[in-house]
Amino acid sequence: MTMVQRGKAVKTRVRKFKINDLDQVVAIAERYASWDLTSTEVDVEGFHSASPEFFFVAEAENKILGFVCGRESNPPAETLNKWKSRKVASIETLAVDEDYRRQGIATSLLSALFEAFKQKKIDLVTLSVPAVEIAAMKLYGKLGFEPRAQFLWKRLDSSY
Ligand SMILES: CC(C)(COP(=O)(O)OP(=O)(O)OC[C@H]1O[C@@H](n2cnc3c(N)ncnc32)[C@H](O)[C@@H]1OP(=O)(O)O)[C@@H](O)C(=O)NCCC(=O)NCCS
Repeated sequence: MTMVQRGKAVKTRVRKFKINDLDQVVAIAERYASWDLTSTEVDVEGFHSASPEFFFVAEAENKILGFVCGRESNPPAETLNKWKSRKVASIETLAVDEDYRRQGIATSLLSALFEAFKQKKIDLVTLSVPAVEIAAMKLYGKLGFEPRAQFLWKRLDSSY
């Protein structure tokens, strides 16, 4: 994949995460993929050791521009029946450096992840997105994801 960065064509490739990528991936995770909790090195290492086959990075000229990691989930048989699925996986984290967005990097990362899911006979993918992440909502909508639930909250004070 070739993308244009500040007028310059840069070759980007998607490949499996290697442990040498840890620092760069943690930096992207901390900056862009921390919601209620800040992602740590332990989290990123944990994703890798649990499911190395589902952890991809996008790289250009030795710089990591984004990453995605997923894992197989194991819902009970009743849930699988209701979901009409044989095997389910989730997208755990996805982030792209803000200087390199809207160039198809997340789409390429997800395509690699979905290919790896399919190789393991996974036929359903789930994920959670913070409602404030409008770009992510648009991306997943474009890729055919549909909302199944909404997480609501309300602060309780003396007026309720
Ligand atoms: C969401 C995110 C990963 C998208 O990365 P990206 O590499 O810019 O995405 P892509 O270039 O592959 O975008 C593909 C499509 O998604 C949609 N999209 C992506 N960003 C968008 C934005 N800011 N506004 C509107 N649509 C957007 C568009 O339809 C886009 O296609 P187009 O550029 O041809 O119009 C990136 O914005 C990000 O890291 N956000 C913060 C972290 C986050 O929200 N992670 C997901 C939580 S699970």
